[in-house]
Amino acid sequence: MGTYVWDGEQLIQREHAVVDIEDRGYTFGDGIYEVFRIYDGQIFAESLHWERYFRSALAIRLQLPWTAEQLSHGVHNLIRANTLKEGIVYLQTTRGVSPRNHSFPSEQVRPALIAFTKTLLRPIEQMDRGERIITHPDERWLRCDIKSLNLLPNVIAKQAASEVAAFEAVLHRDEIITEGSSSNIAIVKNGCIMTHPANHLILHGITRALVIQLANQQRIQLKEEAFTVNDLVQADEAFLMSTTSEIMPIIQVNEQIIGCGIPGPLTRTLQSAWALLLPL
Ligand SMILES: Cc1ncc(COP(=O)(O)O)c(C=O)c1O
Repeated sequence: MGTYVWDGEQLIQREHAVVDIEDRGYTFGDGIYEVFRIYDGQIFAESLHWERYFRSALAIRLQLPWTAEQLSHGVHNLIRANTLKEGIVYLQTTRGVSPRNHSFPSEQVRPALIAFTKTLLRPIEQMDRGERIITHPDERWLRCDIKSLNLLPNVIAKQAASEVAAFEAVLHRDEIITEGSSSNIAIVKNGCIMTHPANHLILHGITRALVIQLANQQRIQLKEEAFTVNDLVQADEAFLMSTTSEIMPIIQVNEQIIGCGIPGPLTRTLQSAWALLLPL
């Protein structure tokens, strides 16, 4: 983690940042977060991340005392203070500190914000080779479009993946694949990409949205339609999408090899188009 963190007002040294035991993020998971990708010291797709952050705040009726400009200014300052070149900014906001009681605190209670940076390099080797994933039941609530701090089902799914040295756990509601524990997913069948529609059952990933644009530009057919576990294991290609993993080819699902067991041609085309978006 970088030396400094930002608390919504000022930069402070990481060791001086504390969480109150009555912070509603701590007691209820009552808050939201965003993860921004930094390439060459610049925030990638910044406005899309702020739009989603404000959408999440609205969805949980969290009244933010900051404007988008103030938030952006604070995060840019943090990146500069920590001289971050390649990595992420994690920013979370809770409904503030108040005696534990489920209903919202009074409007005088100020939301609590914390943002920190972490150096993280692009997973070049993994994107080149492709990764193995597992499937796992989707045990989450019905507002997965909110980037909420409540990530327990995601944590449990990712742990199941870690325990078998898999890269990701891809979630299914009954037979329908929704998304990964911290990524979106797409498959390719007969030249057509399919990814779950952006509704309440998935997080509306920024990477996913940009991949859809790239597919359109490249004249690759793409349908925002649900597909099944069986469709996934029988896909010609499959890939994950996320801010930190970019476009990550999937070469194995559980025991089943996908396609030829190497990243497929449409996945490669999208990866190349993606690289052109980056300020590197
Ligand atoms: C559940 C979930 N889905 C999808 C994504 C990918 O979203 P993005 O591309 O905005 O990083 C994430 C990112 O963390 C996630 O946690």
